[in-house]
Amino acid sequence: MQREFSAKQSIITPEAVFIIGTYDENGVPNAMNAAWGMQSDYGEITIQLAKHKTTDNLKKTGGFTVAFATESTVVISDYFGIESGNKMNKIEKAGCHVRKSAHVNAPVIEEYPVTLECLRVQGEKLQR
Ligand SMILES: Cc1cc2nc3c(=O)[nH]c(=O)nc-3n(C[C@H](O)[C@H](O)[C@H](O)COP(=O)(O)O)c2cc1C
Repeated sequence: MQREFSAKQSIITPEAVFIIGTYDENGVPNAMNAAWGMQSDYGEITIQLAKHKTTDNLKKTGGFTVAFATESTVVISDYFGIESGNKMNKIEKAGCHVRKSAHVNAPVIEEYPVTLECLRVQGEKLQR
């Protein structure tokens, strides 16, 4: 039997659990959760982001980190997706430890075992 699904009912799984780390213009670190992303070439990752504190930060600094959520980081990873850094310092509230990336202007969150250090190379997509 054939069934039709609307755009909002259709999700390809498994999805990523990317944790995007950025600094604001004062060097305050932030992190958000992103599922709409994938590796799109060697050394390249593409992530679809709506407007967030993270995207405001990215426009100012051009640098970001991408960490991968793990079983031991599930609580903080979930938290980074439900609260906005516009309202509070999520890194502090989550009790995370950060250091500045040696390669880009973005925070490495030490609770995550693997982190990519990235530069933004492309801007905004057209809204549907
Ligand atoms: C599981 C999960 C996946 C998410 N994926 C995305 C995504 O791919 N793109 C996006 O723009 N927002 C996504 N969000 C929403 C942001 O993580 C959320 O709005 C967050 O509070 C933004 O934080 P910020 O304002 O501190 O940058 C996701 C949230 C969750 C819980």
